[in-house]
Amino acid sequence: MEIVRPGLITGNQVIDQQHQEILTLAKEAMSRFDESRGGNSSEFHTLLNNLATLAARHFQTEEAFLRRNGCPTLEEHQKEHAAFSERILDLLMKAMAGNLDRGGLLSVMEDWTTHHLLVSDAACSPYLQERKRSSSARTE
Ligand SMILES: [Fe+2]
Ligand SMILES: [Fe+2]
Repeated sequence: MEIVRPGLITGNQVIDQQHQEILTLAKEAMSRFDESRGGNSSEFHTLLNNLATLAARHFQTEEAFLRRNGCPTLEEHQKEHAAFSERILDLLMKAMAGNLDRGGLLSVMEDWTTHHLLVSDAACSPYLQERKRSSSARTE
């Protein structure tokens, strides 16, 4: 799965790369853990751990850009990120207790890659640019 829709491209290389990684993981989750195939427990734990690491790193990076560039919807955006983090944590806790919530995982990935990426991140795209609005460009 590659970023093919213009709405997914923010123009910030770091963010675009992280979004690409999220899309790749979403594709993997959807192909491995669909209802007919199921996927095994070890694969599920690995994917979930990768997702938790990627989410923490990505949310931190993205929020830093939004804060630095004065995004007016930062608080709301942070709440959406926090909700995803909570859902991922919940999946991790369930998995540790032996409950592989495949439907829950797919639902998180779907909400993230469709609603959040395409709506919330796309709307904040002007505030995700690497160059600060008021910064003086370094020319050396
Ligand atoms: Fe976001
Ligand atoms: Fe994002």
